[in-house]
Amino acid sequence: MTAPFHKFRPSGLTLNAREFAPGSARVAVLGAGVMGPGIALVFAEHGFQIDLCEVRQPALDAGMTSLADALDLKVQAQVCDAAAARATLARVTPRIGIADGIAHADLIVEAVPEDRNIKRAVYTQVADAAPSHAVVWSNTSTLDVFSLAPPALAHRLLVAHWFAPPHILPLVEVVCQEPASDSLCDESVSLLRALGKAPVVLEKFVPGFVINRLLRALGRESFDMIESGVISIADLDVAVRTSLAPRMQILGVMQRYDYTGLHLSLRNLADPDIVDAPVNRSPALLQDRVDRGALGVASGSGFYDYGGRSALELQRERDLRLWQVMRALAEHATDPKPI
Ligand SMILES: NC(=O)c1ccc[n+]([C@@H]2O[C@H](COP(=O)([O-])OP(=O)(O)OC[C@H]3O[C@@H](n4cnc5c(N)ncnc54)[C@H](O)[C@@H]3O)[C@@H](O)[C@H]2O)c1
Repeated sequence: MTAPFHKFRPSGLTLNAREFAPGSARVAVLGAGVMGPGIALVFAEHGFQIDLCEVRQPALDAGMTSLADALDLKVQAQVCDAAAARATLARVTPRIGIADGIAHADLIVEAVPEDRNIKRAVYTQVADAAPSHAVVWSNTSTLDVFSLAPPALAHRLLVAHWFAPPHILPLVEVVCQEPASDSLCDESVSLLRALGKAPVVLEKFVPGFVINRLLRALGRESFDMIESGVISIADLDVAVRTSLAPRMQILGVMQRYDYTGLHLSLRNLADPDIVDAPVNRSPALLQDRVDRGALGVASGSGFYDYGGRSALELQRERDLRLWQVMRALAEHATDPKPI
């Protein structure tokens, strides 16, 4: 069975003015860390041949395991059948080094670490060795990758910023910048839609793009209210999960203002009794935990104690719950029209 939000199928697509179809187009995904395997999965389940490229064998092995696990979980969540999962996995070729992957690629998805030097070196190698028509999508979270790419690549480089886990969450933030053409941007957006994703195009580059900036704003108030004793960590999460989160799912941020009434919203914003939390770039709430090695799910504790459960187990539990939510949201998630 196929989830409703995968109803789109790649047909009639072009990229850099060339046909881009499953069976003929090749996609190289560079980096098999947190993001690469999930992005590779999305292309592969839509019929594309993928080269998943890594520099370290253990990372490549872990990336392939995580891709296979993600497919198993889709079967368990009943958003994919076992035969489709096997066929998807068979379309992914693991490779050490990027040379073989980029040599025949029509699209290169760059998901290497968020490090200027690593990205710069990768773009230089791609400009030298990839076919001259190959397009590069960078998954960078914050970097101005346009300033890192050699001129030979700049007109076919854009940002396509996916969200973790990328095979479950639909949003992809797209940033196109000259000399890349508007048509390349449009083609990339069409391709993402055909993959069942929900692309939004930013009119210009801004570090952190949109969602990570919104998250920073939420984090600033959250850390401040917890540190100043207004609310506990657990209650803040309960409050968000039982109010903001479901309402935002239906209304987003801006349509919520329409429902509140813009006049009331204006009055609320002007209330002199509410003083915004100051910008604090290293809140003690985070710093103290980092100092004692409590890094979150990866180390077994962070704001919560995970009682010895492994990061993999915790990630599977999160992803299973996310699939349940995505199934329930279905059409609304990838076709989020206002009410
Ligand atoms: N982790 C997230 O939640 C998240 C979300 C959105 C975007 N991003 C962005 O996606 C990119 C990748 O993030 P990640 O979290 O997957 O990183 P990661 O560190 O988990 O994985 C990156 C992988 O790239 C490999 N690598 C290093 N140099 C390489 C090269 N030259 N060729 C091929 N592979 C190479 C590394 O060995 C590593 O396994 C970053 O730009 C990051 O900012 C991450």
